[in-house]
Amino acid sequence: MASDGIPRLDDLGDVNGRRVLVRCDFNVPLDRSGGRPVITDDFRIRAALPTIEWLRSRGASVVCASHLGRPKGSPDPAFSLEPVRERLAELVPGVDLIENVRFNSGETSNDPAYVAELIEGIDAYVNDAFGASHRAHASIVGPPAKLPSAMGLLLQREVEVLLGLRDHPKHPFVAVLGGAKISDKLGVVDALLGVVDRLVIGGAMCFTFFAAQGKPIGDSLFEPDQVDTCRRLLSEHGDRIVLPEDIVGVDATGAYATFGTRLPDGAKGFDIGPGSAAAFSDEIAEARTVFWNGPMGMFEDERFAAGTRTVAEAVAACRGFTVVGGGDSAAALAQFRLDDEVDHVSTGGGASLELLELGDLPGLAALRGAPNA
Ligand code: 3PG
Repeated sequence: MASDGIPRLDDLGDVNGRRVLVRCDFNVPLDRSGGRPVITDDFRIRAALPTIEWLRSRGASVVCASHLGRPKGSPDPAFSLEPVRERLAELVPGVDLIENVRFNSGETSNDPAYVAELIEGIDAYVNDAFGASHRAHASIVGPPAKLPSAMGLLLQREVEVLLGLRDHPKHPFVAVLGGAKISDKLGVVDALLGVVDRLVIGGAMCFTFFAAQGKPIGDSLFEPDQVDTCRRLLSEHGDRIVLPEDIVGVDATGAYATFGTRLPDGAKGFDIGPGSAAAFSDEIAEARTVFWNGPMGMFEDERFAAGTRTVAEAVAACRGFTVVGGGDSAAALAQFRLDDEVDHVSTGGGASLELLELGDLPGLAALRGAPNA
């Protein structure tokens, strides 16, 4: 047993001939435009393969379970795991996959009756669903209370990497945060400020910081109720917080424009400007540890992709240890074909932020309470 008290696959004992339930996070992006949903990125499915193969090579039969999207607790064909089942069968034939666990309302309410249903005929449980381990849902926290359990290889790697950032990063440690809302990331911002040398802020969340500095932001997206919080962060940690020095967006007529950090009436910022992108890249180049979460702008629109692309390239080129935390930043890396150039791309969005913030997750705590732990 490892010192963190979480059982590993080896702690399951002999799995030959046993039926093992593997909770995966197969919540993959789907393109629904053509009628039949098509998986646009199978990263989360491929990431689960080492654990599935580990178990099968030791004679276990594997039953996978996952959620997909947020159906309302009853079967809904729009959220069927059928496309995942097809892709999984191409990658590793002969693995069972039960239908979306969120088709049962007992999943999100962690109903013991649903846990009993999930583990019927099952001998052991493995959690490899890092991206869902911040949810105290039945398929995450229920089985470990009843069955010999372990964390899978993907979950293990995620925990090692992310807790390593939190607990013993190499310095300089530069964290780059983007995305629209600072309110979603306040917990992780506070945790990161306890350990980073620089916190670089891009994305629309920078406008709430600009507002806290008393700068005009035109009609850019910001969070009025977070201005005081940003003011506090700047007064307590301003020497380590790096904000953009220029912004790209549209002026009041809707025409593409570049601004400094004071946006005129009617203007909207949609990306960091070239000066900011260069300054952020310089910070990243110097780092021995980098954590990046959240795009620098609306990168889906090619006019506003340059900031995110430049940051992605800087993270890819950095010789330090580089970690990209899930969601949109992972999608951006994939769009720029740089996902192989970083040390770790997390499969979790909310889960990676919560693990960095709190140092633990409900899914990990549940594994520590397993009968074989
Ligand atoms: C994710 O995509 O972040 C995970 O699969 C969790 O999904 P959820 O936010 O719907 O619980």
